[in-house]
Amino acid sequence: MIKKDAAAMMNPMIAHVSRFLPDSLLPPGKLPITISYPEKIIIIMANPAEKAKTNLIVCAMKAGMHWPALIMPSVKSHPTLLRLESMSEGVLAAACAFATSKERILFIRYMLPHHGFRLCLSGFTKLNIVILQLMKFSWDAYPRPFVCLAPMAGVTDGSYRQLIKKLAPETIVYTEFLSTDAIHYGAKKTMKELEFDKEEEHPFIVQVFGKEPEHFLSAAKVIEEMGADGIDINMGCPAAKVVSSCHGSALLKNADLAKRLVEATKKEVSIPVSVKTRLGWDNIDDLIPFCQGLVDAGADALAIHGRTYEGKFGGEADWNPIYDLKERVSVPVIGNGDITCAQDAVEKIGNLDGVMIGRGTFGNPWVMKDITEAFRLRSAKCKVQSAKLIPTVDTMTFEEKIPFIIEHCELAVKVKGQKRGMLEMRRHLASYVKGIDGASDLRAQLVRVESVEEVQNILSA
Ligand SMILES: Cc1cc2nc3c(=O)[nH]c(=O)nc-3n(C[C@H](O)[C@H](O)[C@H](O)COP(=O)(O)O)c2cc1C
Repeated sequence: MIKKDAAAMMNPMIAHVSRFLPDSLLPPGKLPITISYPEKIIIIMANPAEKAKTNLIVCAMKAGMHWPALIMPSVKSHPTLLRLESMSEGVLAAACAFATSKERILFIRYMLPHHGFRLCLSGFTKLNIVILQLMKFSWDAYPRPFVCLAPMAGVTDGSYRQLIKKLAPETIVYTEFLSTDAIHYGAKKTMKELEFDKEEEHPFIVQVFGKEPEHFLSAAKVIEEMGADGIDINMGCPAAKVVSSCHGSALLKNADLAKRLVEATKKEVSIPVSVKTRLGWDNIDDLIPFCQGLVDAGADALAIHGRTYEGKFGGEADWNPIYDLKERVSVPVIGNGDITCAQDAVEKIGNLDGVMIGRGTFGNPWVMKDITEAFRLRSAKCKVQSAKLIPTVDTMTFEEKIPFIIEHCELAVKVKGQKRGMLEMRRHLASYVKGIDGASDLRAQLVRVESVEEVQNILSA
């Protein structure tokens, strides 16, 4: 990847380009936007992981505008390239763009291969060059604020994550927590749960739990090999079964082991390793030293649920200690707890790098889109902070929601098969009808469904 400073030394153009972060070119409220490629576009793809090719791009830029289409041989067969070609009148996902009428260059930093940012080219018909710079995911480089789907056991399986990605492509998605012991031993069920849609689910973070450093090390290698963008370590689960075996929240009382787990996870992988934890065991006194220890051990980001272990899910999440923590650590900090709408997210984010949403998505996956949009508007300097944001879910009729609900069912069947997929969908279906007229009748029917057709018939009756 071209680091900004190094790039600036090599070519001022790149430095110039790098200053333009995504929002600068994205007209608020108009996304996603269809691209129609201008005729003379040349697409160059550079894999920044391969230094020689990056240099080639830099040289090409120095040489001016008269060079031919240059497509790196090794990326010709790259799935991302194929995807881009097949998206000629679709949307192009990109992370950063810049163009001037003089240079007629469009530069796109493209985080491989997430589809987080939709980019409009139609306003730039004079462009004759497009440079795509592929980047690996990193917490430092990913555009802020992060909007993360919280890891939730029994909820954030492939179908849930894919649904959320369709509604809000920028979302950073996490798996349910998976046992490092199970991954280490190659347990069939867990290996299946590691599967994800490599086209749609990026950035894709695998959350793990455990207590054996050796198993974290080997699990991390497996996770990296299968193409995940990052690994997250669970140090916050309060479930009795988890804590009694010294996993999850129990690590809050064992800072030394917690650090060793981070070190072991990082040891042989290059993808980032983050930690999700709580404010503390029964008070917040150790939050900062505990997290500083994790960062010293190599943690690349922290997500904090604003409750202690003792607090379980009771009371209100307290975000103030998270804001204080942010001032005291060098890595990105994500706040989590009780966000149910875009207004909450905008009000709570404070000095943090991102927000994480869990239960607020139940029956309302659209909330992720609302939150992303609210942050986009905010960075475009619209006055969203004072305006009341109206949740999408409030503006949609139930009929308008039905196609999304059906799509969720179809994804569940695709990922888990007919029987298990539909069984697991029943709970989601109950959430989707919550609060509507005749909800209890509908729920009674929906909790027995066995096929997508049945759902369709019940909902459209
Ligand atoms: C059903 C359910 C399952 C959860 N499973 C996990 C998990 O696997 N890993 C984890 O770190 N947190 C888990 N959590 C906690 C959430 O990630 C999140 O921290 C918590 O729900 C607070 O955020 P919220 O108020 O936005 O829901 C779970 C929460 C729920 C409700």
